[in-house]
Amino acid sequence: MDRLGLDPFLNTHFRDWKLGHTSVASVGAGVRYHVNSDGGVIQTWRRVERLGSDSFGHVWKERGLDGRTLNHVRVVKQLRKDRPNFIQSSRRELYALTTFSKRTAPEHHKLFVQLLNWYEDRECLFLTMEYVRHGDLQRYIEIGTKFPDRQAPLITGQIASALQYMHTKGFVHRDLRPSNILVAAEGPAWSVKLADFGIATNVEDTWPSKDYIRTSGYMAPEMVDSPQYYTTAVDVWALGAVVFCLLVGIPHFHKLDDMLGYCAGIRQFPTSVLGASTELSIDFILNAMDPVPDKRMSIQKALNHKWLHVIEDASVVEHRYVRAHSDLAHPV
Ligand SMILES: Nc1ncnc2c1ncn2[C@@H]1O[C@H](COP(=O)(O)OP(=O)(O)O)[C@@H](O)[C@H]1O
Ligand SMILES: [Mg+2]
Repeated sequence: MDRLGLDPFLNTHFRDWKLGHTSVASVGAGVRYHVNSDGGVIQTWRRVERLGSDSFGHVWKERGLDGRTLNHVRVVKQLRKDRPNFIQSSRRELYALTTFSKRTAPEHHKLFVQLLNWYEDRECLFLTMEYVRHGDLQRYIEIGTKFPDRQAPLITGQIASALQYMHTKGFVHRDLRPSNILVAAEGPAWSVKLADFGIATNVEDTWPSKDYIRTSGYMAPEMVDSPQYYTTAVDVWALGAVVFCLLVGIPHFHKLDDMLGYCAGIRQFPTSVLGASTELSIDFILNAMDPVPDKRMSIQKALNHKWLHVIEDASVVEHRYVRAHSDLAHPV
């Protein structure tokens, strides 16, 4: 089979992200040498764990074996060149990762997984990224972590800020779900980062085709019907679905048909499972998951929603309480 070279990438700013002037040789059990044009080894890495996999690639955790990278940890996303639309899809992922990097988004980069560089061999493209040490949010949901009233809004606010930034830069994520949200710091002071821009794209684009979109419980209804005609509103739907999952521990609808039934007005939204949640959180979810994209709240409205400001309000109350007490102790 014909293997694709990535020469087209070298005529863009992606060139600056390529790992030196390297060619790569894999030797032995998961050890990779990056060598310069004279054949001198500049970095050596060993695979230590597979973090993810699909039919077109893997995600690896690797540890540095020498020099400046000794004992450093990186994540390598390996994308097979024989996947459908390889050039198109990898260019999009790389474009998103470079757009949300510290270099180009110094104020917002903490909300996104950081690209380190890329390299290729005959069969694959490799994107190397920072290792986000606590893995993804799905893991916390699976082990039944509770996200109490103050912690869920904190996580949601960070995801919403990241989405808003993406939207202002003309991107739609389109695959927001807990497994694509990485945890940099655990609760109560959660810090999360958006990852996996495999199908992220510019708003005007009509790619990918229906076949390429992976079905997910977080997918907005308009993506099911006509994947070509969607807007940033699909990310707001997915945000609502993620919040539902944080609060309840399971996705909102078990079957696609149930979700479509809700959108057609035949079924109720399963608010009963949200029983113990606050009215504000339920209001947030229902506004984010409006079946009609034009009626769905915008990401800006989501960011301004009162539920996300419960924490600030609570800290203001606490602050006042402390002041009131210190006033009592030290009357002026
Ligand atoms: N930078 C990272 N740090 C830690 N874990 C990661 C990182 N990138 C990916 N992962 C883990 O690997 C999984 C798959 O990566 P992802 O980029 O979502 O690829 P895929 O396209 O296979 O879904 C994630 O769900 C997460 O658990
Ligand atoms: Mg993923």
